[in-house]
Amino acid sequence: MHVVILDSPAEVGDFAAQEILRGVAAGKLRTLGVATGSSPLAIYEVLERHRSPQLSALQAFALDEYVGLDPQHPESYASVIRREVTERLGLDPANVHVPNGTAADLAAACADFEAAIRAAGGIDLQILGIGRNGHIGFNEPTSSLASRTRVKTLMSATRRDNARFFADASQVPALCLTQGLGTIGEARKVLLVAQGKAKARAVADAVEGPLSSMCPASVLQMHPHATFVLDPDAAAELKLQDYYREVRSGMDTLR
Ligand code: GLP
Repeated sequence: MHVVILDSPAEVGDFAAQEILRGVAAGKLRTLGVATGSSPLAIYEVLERHRSPQLSALQAFALDEYVGLDPQHPESYASVIRREVTERLGLDPANVHVPNGTAADLAAACADFEAAIRAAGGIDLQILGIGRNGHIGFNEPTSSLASRTRVKTLMSATRRDNARFFADASQVPALCLTQGLGTIGEARKVLLVAQGKAKARAVADAVEGPLSSMCPASVLQMHPHATFVLDPDAAAELKLQDYYREVRSGMDTLR
């Protein structure tokens, strides 16, 4: 696992975006896993400024979606991904996949989503944020470390965190579909971005705590190419900060 501590939230977005742009330019990144939430927005901003035919040819897979929210609802992840990713990067909507949270058969929708990832040849690079409880996607604590895309119940703390996007917490759906931890673990590279003090505990648990479903992001300790890209606040509770900085000063790039 690589830990990259940068000086500001803007640098976090820029670093992650440059990694993606290098992969696209080298022809090694054709399928991008995209995340919602505020953490990755700076990445999409930088990517938008560097739009190219190769970037716009990417296939994209979302991590998760609320159950029962109309895809046209402004806070459905289908809408958020359309606004923040598809339109800004100039992707073909036919190449952008979001689990269908309004399907009559949700289990079949999850299986279809997994099949679409397989048909695309897997995800070359997955962007992740992290919840304050250590969730990635919507894999709440105690999610199976081997889980696949499925229905999950959101913790009330997560619904409260996400209430800022809705009129009030009661409007945040109780259920979601999310890529599983096993699904996320199959991405060839993972870039987790985190900014701000509110994420410091979850980041420290994920990087330096035990491998445990109590901190779902700790599953990334098993991933051969996972990088945490952090601002100083998000890195604040890491015990080995000096070591991560020493490692970085000895290498210019992730590869
Ligand atoms: C949401 C999403 C996650 C996201 C996390 C953090 O619930 N399902 O994919 O990483 O919460 O969100 P934010 O980046 O806004 O803090």
